[in-house]
Amino acid sequence: MRIRSFQEYETAYKKSVEQPENFWNDIAENFTWYKKWDKVVDWDFKDYKVKWFEGASLNITENCIDRHLPHKANDIAFIWESNFDNAPNRKITYQQLHDEVCKTANALKKLGVKKGDRVCIYLPMVPQAVYSMLACARIGAIHSVVFAGFSAASLAGRIQDCECKIIICSDGSYRGDKILNLKNVVDEAIETCPSITNTIVLKVTNELVDFKVGFDIWWNDLVPTCDNFCKPEIMDSEDELFILYTSGSTGKPKGVVHTCGGYMVYTAYTFVNVFQYDANDIYWCTADVGWITGHSYITYGPLLAGATSIIYEGVPVFPDSGRFWKIIDKYKVTHFYTAPTAIRALEACGIEFVTPYHLSSLKVLGSVGEPINIEAWQWYNKNIGKEKCPIVDTWWQTETGGILISSLAGVTPQKPSYATLPLPGVQPILVDDKGNEIIGNNVEGNLCIKYPWPSIIRTTFGDHDRCKQTYFTTYPNLYFTGDGCKRDETGNYRITGRVDDVMNISGHRIGTAEVESAINSHADVVESAVVGYPHDIKGQGIYAFVIAPSITKNNSTLTTEIISVVSKLISPIAKPDKIQIVSGLPKTRSGKIMRRILRKIAEGDVNNLGDISTLLDPNVVEEIKKGRV
Ligand code: PRX
Repeated sequence: MRIRSFQEYETAYKKSVEQPENFWNDIAENFTWYKKWDKVVDWDFKDYKVKWFEGASLNITENCIDRHLPHKANDIAFIWESNFDNAPNRKITYQQLHDEVCKTANALKKLGVKKGDRVCIYLPMVPQAVYSMLACARIGAIHSVVFAGFSAASLAGRIQDCECKIIICSDGSYRGDKILNLKNVVDEAIETCPSITNTIVLKVTNELVDFKVGFDIWWNDLVPTCDNFCKPEIMDSEDELFILYTSGSTGKPKGVVHTCGGYMVYTAYTFVNVFQYDANDIYWCTADVGWITGHSYITYGPLLAGATSIIYEGVPVFPDSGRFWKIIDKYKVTHFYTAPTAIRALEACGIEFVTPYHLSSLKVLGSVGEPINIEAWQWYNKNIGKEKCPIVDTWWQTETGGILISSLAGVTPQKPSYATLPLPGVQPILVDDKGNEIIGNNVEGNLCIKYPWPSIIRTTFGDHDRCKQTYFTTYPNLYFTGDGCKRDETGNYRITGRVDDVMNISGHRIGTAEVESAINSHADVVESAVVGYPHDIKGQGIYAFVIAPSITKNNSTLTTEIISVVSKLISPIAKPDKIQIVSGLPKTRSGKIMRRILRKIAEGDVNNLGDISTLLDPNVVEEIKKGRV
């Protein structure tokens, strides 16, 4: 399954396109299945349905853990590094991981959780977050991890949508020198979540919490008392493994559903090939398990490969901005995978935070979540990789489950700011706005994929039509990614950013509609329009144009209130960076907001607004231009 040369890549790629079923059949042979598949893939992009390894049965945790025990029970699966620099770390062997996952799984069973039930996980970056995910998978429950920075309202929305039975949370979480009380957020959220029958509360910060005996259960009173063996549930390849909510251009966040067999095969295959992980390497992905990167490349991919990984509880700048580099030296990290926004932020802190560290253990660097600009790429390459580490710029999405376009570290060529070539099994295609294929090289268009890969989204929870509409109707017979993309003269792909109304703020996906709806909930606001604009550190910042005709307070009070309402309804990560109070918005005669114009104004490109003659009231544009913040 491991590709070791460019020629092997070319051979694998060719086979994956010409004989996809044979190709994936052979890869899937590398795993433990209780029963093998009757058919490798069955699919239809028109009336969207897809099945991988139909008829097969497995349990992904057997493949992540049990399969390794005969030869690596005492090898380290995870090294946990605390938020606090001087606090003891924790090393978790594969045997200990097995025992902890089984105990957690038995604890869930004790609370009545059964195959198919949904369990919400709202935890900081502690090992128990991974135990909880795997415990669900062990018993066939479907985990829905919610990033522990989301507000009570966002958490409630996600719990309600998939009707979670249990929520696993902690009293609080450490974020650098701050402490967040998570249990309070959970208490507020579940007031409107009748499906929740119990909470399991892990003590992390020893915060004072409101504890309802019988309903709230301390993790420590429950999990350690459970048996350390739990027979893995036999799962059909297409049984649901998890739901992960992500923002789209319209409506509420969607519950992206991934299933067991295909997701397992694809995350394992991409992990070993993209990162070229070898025995004894130490891998560190700085993402949070609340995002897809944490699911696929902290929890599942590395464990499927029997890897040793770091789990880091804290933030990059605590106690100072050298923390990442200190951790790399401390554990002799060989593979480091982070987001461009972190690279830019740390670059801005100054090279003096990097120079005290050797970083000589590093072999491979990775980037994910947003386009990496050339300057950030060069800084990363020079100062962190010391110009000797390949950089994999991995393009993928919550919906894709795993990396689709990336170089393979040291095996296929890299090109700064390009994700480069598709992985075997991935067939990208660029189309124009009418859906015509753009053939040849040195071209640009909308990025679609024309053949399914094993970890493609199966559905959006509870609403298959929404899945079809969002991904498979814009361009018939194609999966539409929502991204714009260039293909250079040699066939390398460069993602240029979203072409829909989704923003990418510090690598976090945020829908303009979600932010607008939060802003509009403020009593003084009549209407708003939100767009992304280039931001030096965050990649994109949020610019909100707000109509509030009858305000009696001053603009700055209103601005503060708007920021607070967005934090409360979504999360501080969705706070607008700039708010402009306007008297009108540029609308067409049919009432549609012309975001193209607002985007240009937000970017500062005010003299290049294009055709504004179709606007209902072109004067509005002049006013907005003048009041730009
Ligand atoms: O716009 C692309 C951007 O992030 C979007 C997916 O966001 P999400 O589902 O939250 O998953 C992020 C982690 C996989 C994509 O549609 N994106 C992701 N990786 C890259 C990227 N843009 C450019 N280059 C990348 N390497």
